[in-house]
Amino acid sequence: MSLGVFDTGNIVILTGAGISAESGIETFRDKGGVWERNRIEDVATPEAFDKDPPRVHEFYNARRRALGAANIQPNAAHKALALLEERLASRVLIVTQNIDDLHERAGSRNLIHMHGELLKARCAECGEVRQQIDDLGTEALCLHCDRKGAMRPHVVWFGEMPFEQERIAEALDNCALFISIGTSGSVYPAAGFVHEVRMSGQAHTVELSLEPSSGESLFAERHYGPASRIVPHYVDRLLAGEAGFAPS
Ligand code: APR
Repeated sequence: MSLGVFDTGNIVILTGAGISAESGIETFRDKGGVWERNRIEDVATPEAFDKDPPRVHEFYNARRRALGAANIQPNAAHKALALLEERLASRVLIVTQNIDDLHERAGSRNLIHMHGELLKARCAECGEVRQQIDDLGTEALCLHCDRKGAMRPHVVWFGEMPFEQERIAEALDNCALFISIGTSGSVYPAAGFVHEVRMSGQAHTVELSLEPSSGESLFAERHYGPASRIVPHYVDRLLAGEAGFAPS
C-alpha cells in the first residue's frame, strides 16, 4: 500500500474533546460546555480536592456514569483512527487529551492519555492505579497500601504535570505527519505540540476540527467540519496515498 508522500515516517495524532462530541460526550469550551457549568477551581485542581473531596468525586462520578451509558459509543472518527493504526501499526500514535475510553473501544492501542483516564483511580498515598468503573468516594480503600480515603481520579488536574511528556516529545520530534483533531488549542502543553513539530523538522501539519483552533495559523493544512465526517475522509485519502502536503 503506497501512502504517497507519507510512505515512510511516523504519524502523531493529537485528539481533544471534539472527537468525542458526536458520541455524546460534552466538550469543555463550546457553548454549554463543562467549564460553563463548573468552575475549574472548584472541581479540577489539587486545591479543590484538598478543600472538598466529595464535590470533586461527584464531578467525576457524574462524568464516569455518563460515559458508561449504553448510548455513548465510539463514532466514525474514532473508528477511522483505529483503522489507520490497523493498517500502519506502530507508525501511528494517538496522544489524547480526553479521559474517555472511546479510542480504546474503537480499537486503538498505540495511545497515550496525557490527561489521565476517567475509568481509573490512583492512590494519592502510594501511587497505585486501578480500574474504576463505579462511583469513587472518600471511603474508598487502596487495595495496595490499605490507606482509606486516599483514592483520587487518575486524571491530570490544572496545575499538575500531564503524563508521558518525554515519550510525547520524542514522538513529535520524529514524526512525518502531525494531525490535530477536535481541540481548541486552549491548554498547554498540548496546544504547543504543533509548534514543537514545526521546529523539529519537515513534518506536515494538519488541523481537523469543527472550527479553527487558536493555533490555526500554525497548521500547513486545515479542514473544518464534524469529526465523524472529516476524519474518515482524511484517513481514506491518506490510505489511498492521496493525502499530501497542502496545495501551495
Ligand atoms: N467535530 C470536530 N470538532 C469539534 C466537534 C465535532 N463534532 N465539536 C466540537 N469540536 C471542537 C471545537 O470546535 C473545539 O475546538 O472541539 C474543540 C473542543 O475544545 P475544548 O472544549 O476546549 O476541548 P479540548 O481542546 O479538548 O480541551 C483541552 O482542556 O479543560 C481541559 O483537560 C481538559 O483535555 C481538556 C483540555
